[in-house]
Amino acid sequence: MGLPPGTVLKGRYTVERPLGSGGFGITYLCMDNSAGSYVAVKEYFPKHAVREDLALTFPAQHDMQDHYARVESFIDESIIASRFGDVRIVRQTDSFKENNTAYYVMEYVEGPTLAQYVRKAGPLKSPDAINIAEEIALGIRSVHNAGFVHGDLKPTNVLLKNERAVKITDFGGAAVRDSFFVPLHSGVVSLHYSAPERFVSCIMPTAQSDIYSLGGVLFFLVSGLDPVPAPDRMKGVAMAYPSTSYKLRKVVRRAMAMAMSNRYQDALQFIRALRRRWFF
Ligand SMILES: Nc1ncnc2c1ncn2[C@@H]1O[C@H](COP(=O)(O)OP(=O)(O)OP(=O)(O)O)[C@@H](O)[C@H]1O
Ligand SMILES: [Mg+2]
Repeated sequence: MGLPPGTVLKGRYTVERPLGSGGFGITYLCMDNSAGSYVAVKEYFPKHAVREDLALTFPAQHDMQDHYARVESFIDESIIASRFGDVRIVRQTDSFKENNTAYYVMEYVEGPTLAQYVRKAGPLKSPDAINIAEEIALGIRSVHNAGFVHGDLKPTNVLLKNERAVKITDFGGAAVRDSFFVPLHSGVVSLHYSAPERFVSCIMPTAQSDIYSLGGVLFFLVSGLDPVPAPDRMKGVAMAYPSTSYKLRKVVRRAMAMAMSNRYQDALQFIRALRRRWFF
């Protein structure tokens, strides 16, 4: 399904190997032959697509207009992500269409995702979890200050460069805040990390939905578990909060409040709550 190693994209990026795949794409490690350095390249690869030679093909009844709209939306995502000059956000350097689909190029981050890191190291101690959560929140604050939301924050979308520095990636759910631009190509929400309002159709992701996901990531860091999905919580399934300090649980609970208005209103409030010295 993935592009074979050695494939050259845009006459410039040589595929070395796939790094992984997610809901709507495949990410490759590539050599940027112009710069002489590694980059990560994400290929939009929707569910019903099949690769023939290099190009994506679709079943005869597939709505191709819809596909092309999604390809444009994928390109838009990369344009959004190229705007944030924050070191905590993966730098996006290029995007292009080829093989009947779209690609974007980003800095290659050597290091595990938060999901991989915690799976290996186990749940983190509160001070470590707080440091990481605070760094993510600072990155998310830059996104919000620029007038956007991330929309798909979760442990697989945060990389830990050299197992230390936080790098947020995948603006798959990004939307222009307070507008009607919705990213067409992703559409789906992440079951465990998306706020309850995201499961109701026609509701745009907001800064408060990112706060919910931030709470979910903090929950994951200290417990090693994915939080109970919002639709289950709506049906009354209780969250088993991790056995950390009462105050840290309180931050998670407030960030993950079911009602948007009960959450921290912005990333700074979340950061301030984390910084209060009552954890230790
Ligand atoms: N910039 C990057 N540098 C290095 N590795 C990356 C980079 N971006 C993604 N990866 C790796 O590629 C894997 C796949 O990423 P991808 O975004 O395709 O899937 P996902 O995050 O698991 O799911 P989703 O599609 O829901 O975001 C990640 O788990 C990560 O290991
Ligand atoms: Mg991802």
